[in-house]
Amino acid sequence: MTITGSTASAAYWEPLWAEGRRYRPLSETELGLMNDHLGPGRSRPALDIGSGDGTLARHLHHELGYRTTGIDCSPSALALAAAQDTGTAPGPGWRCWDITTGDLAALPDAAYAIVTCRLVYRWMDDKAAFVDRVRRLLAPGGTFWVVTEIAGRRTTSDPALQRLGITRADAELLTAGWSIVRTADLDVLRCYALRP
Ligand SMILES: C[S@@+](CC[C@H](N)C(=O)[O-])C[C@H]1O[C@@H](n2cnc3c(N)ncnc32)[C@H](O)[C@@H]1O
Repeated sequence: MTITGSTASAAYWEPLWAEGRRYRPLSETELGLMNDHLGPGRSRPALDIGSGDGTLARHLHHELGYRTTGIDCSPSALALAAAQDTGTAPGPGWRCWDITTGDLAALPDAAYAIVTCRLVYRWMDDKAAFVDRVRRLLAPGGTFWVVTEIAGRRTTSDPALQRLGITRADAELLTAGWSIVRTADLDVLRCYALRP
């Protein structure tokens, strides 16, 4: 598949969600790593960027106790996420919002105790600008939780699968300038807990 336009846009993602494409589900192991690094929410605000079907945002909200907002540029993904809020307790808030262009002041909270982004960083065209926007959203002492595939970890030679990983340069860009960088590996994925 040749990609010509931006991979950080609704034009790219909306047709994929609308046609039924889904992404790697969260495993118990991944959830455990996230729980260990993020800790209890105690009603503090959390922002999940590129929330997709909302699984991670719901976990933050219902299991860890963060007051969570999920943002995604795809209306179909958000509709899928909102449709799963079937419990009696209020679920996360959902916003159709583009992290690359959206007005940060329009988000429900000015600063977030945690910002998460799972399988999203790879697709940001301007990764430096993306990380800079996340820094502006993090509260002092907050944590940026990133889950991304690392290039070269798959045994396949299929270029479509190989391109799912980030390069060493992209990893260095992601981890530069934080006071604390913790990582945990999960087969082809790496989880990062980054603190300002
Ligand atoms: C591979 S999916 C991952 C979805 C979800 N985080 C998960 O782990 O299943 C990437 C998600 O990022 C969203 N996305 C991509 N670019 C975005 C942008 N500029 N602003 C907001 N969401 C974006 C897509 O719509 C898509 O839902």
